[in-house]
Amino acid sequence: MSTLDWNDDPTQQYGPAQATGAQTAGSLNADHPDPFAVNPGDASDGPVGATGVEDVDMGAARIQVDDKKIINCKADLNQLVPFKYKWAWDKYIAGCANHWMPNEINMSADIAQWQDPNAFTDDERLIVKRALGFFASADSLVANNLVLAVYRHITNPECRQYLLRQAFEEALHTHAYQYIVESLGMDEAEVFNMYREVPSVHDKAAWALPYTQSLADPHFHTGTPEDDQRLLRDMIAFYVVFEGIFFYVGFVQLLSFGRQNRLTGASEQIQYIMRDESMHMNFGIDVINQIKIENPHLWTPEFQAEVVGMIKEATELEIKYAHDTMPRGVLGLNANMFNDYLRFIANRRANQIGIADIFPAATNPFPWMSEMMDLNKEKNFFETRVIEYQAGGTLSWD
Ligand SMILES: [Fe+2]
Ligand SMILES: [Fe+2]
Repeated sequence: MSTLDWNDDPTQQYGPAQATGAQTAGSLNADHPDPFAVNPGDASDGPVGATGVEDVDMGAARIQVDDKKIINCKADLNQLVPFKYKWAWDKYIAGCANHWMPNEINMSADIAQWQDPNAFTDDERLIVKRALGFFASADSLVANNLVLAVYRHITNPECRQYLLRQAFEEALHTHAYQYIVESLGMDEAEVFNMYREVPSVHDKAAWALPYTQSLADPHFHTGTPEDDQRLLRDMIAFYVVFEGIFFYVGFVQLLSFGRQNRLTGASEQIQYIMRDESMHMNFGIDVINQIKIENPHLWTPEFQAEVVGMIKEATELEIKYAHDTMPRGVLGLNANMFNDYLRFIANRRANQIGIADIFPAATNPFPWMSEMMDLNKEKNFFETRVIEYQAGGTLSWD
């Protein structure tokens, strides 16, 4: 088995166990009622699924794979095996294999360039600061959403194992931005406070936060169709939109410097971050699709229309952000190219969760990004990178 599996077609990843979960769910503990469920028939009175902090049920039967499901599962959550969702475990293993640390990357060339008053135009400096300003708080928002909102409601140990790895990776990403800002001698307050100062940065964070707030309510738990849709909505907001669309203008912009042999240390870190984010997004999409398989009643036409509205709105916000960060053409890029690119990306994200193209005929003006992201090439690219990382090599930008 390859440790890297970049095939984000969920139908090819689910093992034979996936078809059995919904029918047998909750059977294991039928004789051992959930001590937190005040009235299991009414989700408003207590959690429907297990949480992992119930009293230890001495003498309870061993876990069967069919007892497991992604949400509202009553089986003990403190037993990782037997695996039901092998794709989640495989992504955990791949995430660990791709481990990197920001402060291992040499920033000396970046520092010399940044200190050279002639090395960047004002427009180029604005792009670097805006991108770091968005990312600096964005990965904290994602981490908070994972730890304070999503984790509690995902009732599957192998998925939780990946969530814990992802949470650490989000910490590494925030570390990377801090390391870049410190290395380049930027005004850290300007960068880290940007989401409270610059409208186009603020608007993306403000778009996503209500989804976290909705789930972080200590009285919230899944168990009714409405509440299960609330969880799905949050996962679509963060995995599909935030990590799948909102990061991409910044990725393209910062990687464009690297392609010109400029800011190569920062670009190398962005490349690692993009690899991690691609995995996060694909994991989230697998979880969303698995929830759909196990709970088809949640995926109503009304809910799908709402999801289309979310993706459209978010795409417009990201286009606005592109125009704000690039008032004039720079680096061979211009803001109008992002109109197409973001619609192309949005279509792709929508397709991954079973929704038809939202922006028909959108094309990709950045084939080099496509080379990094397209699945077959992506696999080769990342396998190469892992080997080079382990050998302590550096990226080349030809
Ligand atoms: Fe991240
Ligand atoms: Fe992420």
